[in-house]
Amino acid sequence: MARILPDVSRTFAEYLLLPGLTRREHIPRNVSLKAPVAAFQRGTPSRFELNIPVVSASMQAVSGSEMATALARQGGLAFVFCSQSIENQAAMIAKVKGHKAGFVRSDTTIHPTSTLRELLAIRRRTGHSTAAVTDDGTNAGKFVGIITDKDFWEFEDNLDTPVSEHMTPLEKVIFGRVGISLTEANRLLHRHKKECLPVLEDDGRLNSLVFKKDYIDHMNNPDEILDGDKRLAVGAGINTHDYKERVPALVAAGADVLAFDSSDGYSEYQKEAALWIREEYGDKVVVGGGNVVSAEGFHYLAEEGQLDFVKVGIGGGSICITREQKGIGRGQASALMDVVKARDAYYERTGRYVPICSDGGLANDTQIIIALAMGADFVMMGRYFAMTSESPTPKVSIGNRIYKPYWGEGSNRARNWQRYAEEGGGDGKLKFEEGVDGYVPVVGSVSEVLGVTLAKLRATMCNLGALSLPQFNREAVLTLVSEQSIEEGGTNNIIRPETKLGDRE
Ligand code: IMP
Repeated sequence: MARILPDVSRTFAEYLLLPGLTRREHIPRNVSLKAPVAAFQRGTPSRFELNIPVVSASMQAVSGSEMATALARQGGLAFVFCSQSIENQAAMIAKVKGHKAGFVRSDTTIHPTSTLRELLAIRRRTGHSTAAVTDDGTNAGKFVGIITDKDFWEFEDNLDTPVSEHMTPLEKVIFGRVGISLTEANRLLHRHKKECLPVLEDDGRLNSLVFKKDYIDHMNNPDEILDGDKRLAVGAGINTHDYKERVPALVAAGADVLAFDSSDGYSEYQKEAALWIREEYGDKVVVGGGNVVSAEGFHYLAEEGQLDFVKVGIGGGSICITREQKGIGRGQASALMDVVKARDAYYERTGRYVPICSDGGLANDTQIIIALAMGADFVMMGRYFAMTSESPTPKVSIGNRIYKPYWGEGSNRARNWQRYAEEGGGDGKLKFEEGVDGYVPVVGSVSEVLGVTLAKLRATMCNLGALSLPQFNREAVLTLVSEQSIEEGGTNNIIRPETKLGDRE
């Protein structure tokens, strides 16, 4: 006979947090939102941590290179979608890595005999106004000078004259030598009041450029996540079909974290693929998997598959119709609490901590807070980020409001058959959809929406007397709420003006 779980499948909307003792030190400024992503042994640090507990979903309508850049700057991580060719996905990763916050490889290098007109064409293509000049016009050439938009006037100077006539020549350029630290490079920029510092090899070839604007940007985004080479961190979705080709390409392009993007990760395919990655890369790559909704699924992936983190959630996504189509899934809160319990017991038993990501179905800021209080180390969201200006979709006007399209990876529009079609015998086609295609209102930039969400999270943590996310989870006391108390919690018995454009619920 089928086993029936005794508990009802619960969602985040059914819970409220009770405040704990708030002491004087419990102020938002003192709150740390650091969250581990890579599994770690008790007493040792995680190989990869977020500065805010938020990542974006591996979806076509959500995570391209612009989202990845914006989110890493805020301290989170985007998982660039894998429902595209390996080359395209690797190019998106490489683009994020090109936004190196320190030593930048020039993409506007030019030959001294090239004309100002040619320089303008390169500038228009790259959007960068500073060009290094080398003797052969490539990054491998000897550095001979630098030219910026201050060195000539587009509408006054003869655009057919060579760059060499206008550039600042090597003799007058302040430069650094390879091996210089970023701090020293910034000090030189400051001391000599320069915008750009070329860094040269010992034999005079160009190595990289350091920009003042990157320093300012870094100071304005103290939470940004950088790799060992001061490049922004980026994640990538992978699947269990072409991982032997995709993973090497993504790692070569610079992906820091990989995550299997699967609607049901409790499978031999995922365990096999995860073990292959471990064998090939050891601990050099951080790799997560899922999705699961039970303790059994967690153990299978975390223990037997040796994954770094496990994503929880089936059927809760805003664009998801899996539960209606196939009858599988579980209320997100129940799934999360079961998996967190299993993870905590596993940690107790083995000393290995496996971070948990709550994926999908977070309808508002409160639910993000409840998920973290219940023990998710971080949350993955699609709709939330699809609504921002950095998602890769165009704005459309419907009625008098501005929207962006948002579609599920299991919809015919995405055609992500690797995520949904049956493994092994799959013919590469979706026989039925598990996701829909719709619109979401545009709400602003990633930094604006996260600013509000994280301010609420910090405030709630202070209400509970917690200064870190693990402490938040330990201190959290939750209560189930009745329908009447949910009604009582909203505004009641007053008239409200019409909801404004940009409201997120
Ligand atoms: P959201 O934040 O509620 O929009 O949910 C996003 C999550 O839904 C993703 O991270 C995926 O786990 C999941 N998802 C993405 N596309 C589909 C789909 O087409 N069907 C079901 N789930 C999906």
